[in-house]
Amino acid sequence: MGFSVFYFCCKAWQFNKFKFPFFRAFLWGVLAVGSLLFAGFNSSRTSEKTVDKAVYKSFHPGAVWYDTDSVHINAHGGGMLFHEDTYYWFGEHKTAGVSGNTALVGIRCYSSQDLYNWKNEGIAFESADDPESEIVKGAVMERPKVIFNEATKKFVMWFHLELKGQGYSAARTGVAISDKVTGPYEYLRSFRPNAGTWPVDATEKMKAASFSESLEWWTPAWHEAVEQGLFVKRDFETGQMSRDMTLFVDDDGTAYHIHSSEENLTLHISKLSADYTSFTDRWTRIFPGGHNEAPALFKRKGKYYLITSGCTGWAPNAARSFVSDSIWGPWQQLGNPCVGDGAELTFHSQSTFVLPVNGKEDAFIFMADRWKPKNPIDGRYIWLPVEFQGDKPLLKWRDEWDLSVFNAKD
Ligand code: GAL
Repeated sequence: MGFSVFYFCCKAWQFNKFKFPFFRAFLWGVLAVGSLLFAGFNSSRTSEKTVDKAVYKSFHPGAVWYDTDSVHINAHGGGMLFHEDTYYWFGEHKTAGVSGNTALVGIRCYSSQDLYNWKNEGIAFESADDPESEIVKGAVMERPKVIFNEATKKFVMWFHLELKGQGYSAARTGVAISDKVTGPYEYLRSFRPNAGTWPVDATEKMKAASFSESLEWWTPAWHEAVEQGLFVKRDFETGQMSRDMTLFVDDDGTAYHIHSSEENLTLHISKLSADYTSFTDRWTRIFPGGHNEAPALFKRKGKYYLITSGCTGWAPNAARSFVSDSIWGPWQQLGNPCVGDGAELTFHSQSTFVLPVNGKEDAFIFMADRWKPKNPIDGRYIWLPVEFQGDKPLLKWRDEWDLSVFNAKD
């Protein structure tokens, strides 16, 4: 349209038809309005950030990843459910600008059969409009994970919830259920778990310990107190803090909730009830005072593995890894699984999930977030294959890779 206005004006000028000042002014006016309209039309197209529909045949860690509608995938701090031959990716729907770090929309879901190309299934779990609701728009809803309960046939979503306007002080876990994998999920409740119960391995010494209220943080005496249960005791009646979290379903169908607790200093692993919607009184602490966040738990050849991050907020740090013969421990530290350039900052990302690939032998994908806290909608995804050196998981950077790195199952 802009071009035709311009062309008409040039022609008119060329044929010297409009020599009067009035006509010159009129023509310049038409030209200016035409160019503005043209520029506006173009910028509204680019601000949608769409490209032609892409069909991926490989992963491109860190690049903008478009869904099948050619829109950048919006599912951060995500988790994956494999159900009836389809992968479902649930994650935080982020919006533009710093306010987009809070949940203004909800939890989005995508589906895929090949893991490369993702169809937007919409908002599976919506933030509420009701200002009285715990999940009102502006609350923080992070790291959603969904599991399927074979007995109840319900899909159960757990997530980290922070109440609106309270920063990260609420430190709750929330739960929602649905009959359909893609939702809508119905909010059940949120709480600080394990109120009034000791971890399964609590010693009589721990139960009886008392701590000085004036202990200065980060001193050796304070560290020792943390290990002995300073914060477990403080929160014993009201429930333990629960921030970064993940879920894990074992081969026998038992589900576990793994979360950062005790002021993010200690990971807790808790057994969920048979219907997956509440906690039991069985839980344990791993690495008291170890400062682990962003837990991702998986099982390989009968051993349990954990990949975590340290605690530096949205900024990346070095990942950690752990192995154990039992989910209840003892867990052994294996160090930073990342090797090569960028290993010290987990290739500028933070773990969120480790996905076992269906139909492949010994195949796990490390999923992580490259956060963009100033414009969270622009956050990127780092997916890398988990390699092993003996029992130790290894993560190496790849600009591009595909599932052929894994061996097919016989
Ligand atoms: C990170 C955590 C994220 C988010 C962020 C807020 O450490 O892993 O999920 O809570 O802090 O600063």
